[in-house]
Amino acid sequence: MAAGVTGGGSGTWSDRFEEGLHPAIERFNASIGFDITLLQEDLDGSIAHARMLAECGVISDEEAGQLCAGLEQIRSEAASGNFQPGLADEDVHFAVERRLIALLGPVGKKLHTGRSRNDQVGTDLRLWLRRRIDALEQAVVRCQHALLTQADRHRETLIPGYTHLQRAQPLCLAHHLLAYVEMLERDRERLRDVRVRVNISPLGAAALAGTPVPINRRSTATALGFERVYANSLDAVSDRDFTVEFSAAAALVMAHLSRLAEEVIFWASEECGFVRLTDRCATGSSLMPQKKNPDVPELVRGKCGRVFGHLQGLLTMIKGLPLAYNKDFQEDKEALFDVVRTTSDCLEAMAILLEEGVEFRPERLEQAVASDFSNATDVADYLVTRGVPFREAYQLVGAVVKRCLQDGVLLRDLSLEQWQQFHPVIEADLLEALVPRRVVAARLSEGGTAFVRVEEQLALWSERLSTK
Ligand code: ARG
Repeated sequence: MAAGVTGGGSGTWSDRFEEGLHPAIERFNASIGFDITLLQEDLDGSIAHARMLAECGVISDEEAGQLCAGLEQIRSEAASGNFQPGLADEDVHFAVERRLIALLGPVGKKLHTGRSRNDQVGTDLRLWLRRRIDALEQAVVRCQHALLTQADRHRETLIPGYTHLQRAQPLCLAHHLLAYVEMLERDRERLRDVRVRVNISPLGAAALAGTPVPINRRSTATALGFERVYANSLDAVSDRDFTVEFSAAAALVMAHLSRLAEEVIFWASEECGFVRLTDRCATGSSLMPQKKNPDVPELVRGKCGRVFGHLQGLLTMIKGLPLAYNKDFQEDKEALFDVVRTTSDCLEAMAILLEEGVEFRPERLEQAVASDFSNATDVADYLVTRGVPFREAYQLVGAVVKRCLQDGVLLRDLSLEQWQQFHPVIEADLLEALVPRRVVAARLSEGGTAFVRVEEQLALWSERLSTK
């Protein structure tokens, strides 16, 4: 009998096949070029499966021992660069099985008992992503630490606060930076939450319907560190929700990094000048010798497109699929791999940028907050404390600002007499209240930018992050 055929090699398919694949179709069909990324997880999953088969009496202990030793040998071959599957292997699962059979002979052919590539690939992907989520969480924490260190350094520094990118009210710089720490904390929570739904074992669902082989799904699940097993075999091999959920969580990480990146780019501009870029993280121009460019935050901002795109791609890939496995799923891998790589590269780059790439310029920041009308609300608030209804105070301050703009002066340039012409309740203490530092210090409401509130938050965050 013929020994099965495939495009380049032989023996992949059953004897039903007589002719090999068209070479272009072989290339088109193969995923080995990228799913080799899952090699470690494929070996881990196969080892757990082989041990379970022996536990359940499906194969002997000796056979399981041989299978595990063979799988470990493939691991060492890969480590020394000697495991190099080709297109004819189609994917990582076949590549491993083939090598195992080459190493062990007939025993190698027992590994795939009670299992399909459909539950196998789902297992590999989940194991791989679970590890990456843990690493990403640490990368998020590193960014939070870097932000906290900067915040700690700038608990006394002021920065203009903006809405609509128009000067609004002055802020404590640490408060501004801590906002990003909060955003990243939500990202961390989301990653942890997704991990719960990644950490479910599809192994043993077999092709789609389960298997008559007396396997023990709990045993492989426990061995591989899965929290639970899928209750429905069809759902087990068809579920790619976790790729979407994870990519959505990663997309938000990217969106947050991109917002921060945008601020750094703005802060580093000559018009703004709030930060200096150090030579460690900035680049020059090939033509203009005076240039120092913020390439790092620009790349982070630019790379969002890939992650957002993959999220859309995954959703689209899933939406029309009938149960159960469809080859469309092969498309999940490159997307997921790129989402993980891009997000972790960006987290690392932003952490380095924050650690040693940007230096805030307190003198420029101080000068900025002192030369605008961002204390206008405080005049209104002052009038409110003296019984003037807010809307009336608001109108009045608007008129004062208008006058100042006409005269080319700032609010704090007005004398007490001039103020009293606007409203008789105004006294000398208003002038004090208009100093930017006082404006910031006055915002004592919970979550506000007052220095004492920020001190509390800094203490809280250094406590929270100290164990991370
Ligand atoms: N390479 C395939 C993938 O990535 C593995 C599963 C193939 N299963 C199948 N029945 N063709 O999805």
